[in-house]
Amino acid sequence: MALLTLGFLAVSFQQDKALKESIARGKEAYALYCQNCHMENGKGQEGMFPPLVKTDFMQKPIEAFVSVILKGQQGTITVNDVEYNNVMPAQDYLTNEQIADIINYTRNSWGNKLKGMATPDKVNGMRN
Ligand code: HEC
Repeated sequence: MALLTLGFLAVSFQQDKALKESIARGKEAYALYCQNCHMENGKGQEGMFPPLVKTDFMQKPIEAFVSVILKGQQGTITVNDVEYNNVMPAQDYLTNEQIADIINYTRNSWGNKLKGMATPDKVNGMRN
């Protein structure tokens, strides 16, 4: 039983470490590839670029986030009572790891604290 508990602790410690490292890499990638539009604080620019902080979108499954990065998005959306009708170009030139890292960073920043972890494998599985 003690061994089992130790094993479990070791696994969750490893996952925790992997997530922390991913978030740290994601911060740098976000600054390079997302920040121009969504801003350093994730709040976007009202009416132009939607925020990534405490929005309905952020509550969606990780797959929805992967899809927006791989395919981009356009059309009318309402985010936190503000309307956006703009174009986000696909960011599919990013590597699977960069995309997973950016997602983990945004889901754990600026007051966002969402369960689950994006992995390069999951991103790769959604490319076609
Ligand atoms: C050139 C500007 C630009 C860049 C760069 C950009 N985005 Fe966007 N993003 C937008 C716009 C504009 C929208 C909204 C499009 C619309 O009106 O439907 C959007 C939408 C989104 C959404 C959906 C939000 C919602 O509530 O529906 C997410 C998530 C997102 N972007 C994340 C990212 C991430 C992560 C990156 C970096 C990999 C990134 N974006 C790079 C402009 C950009």
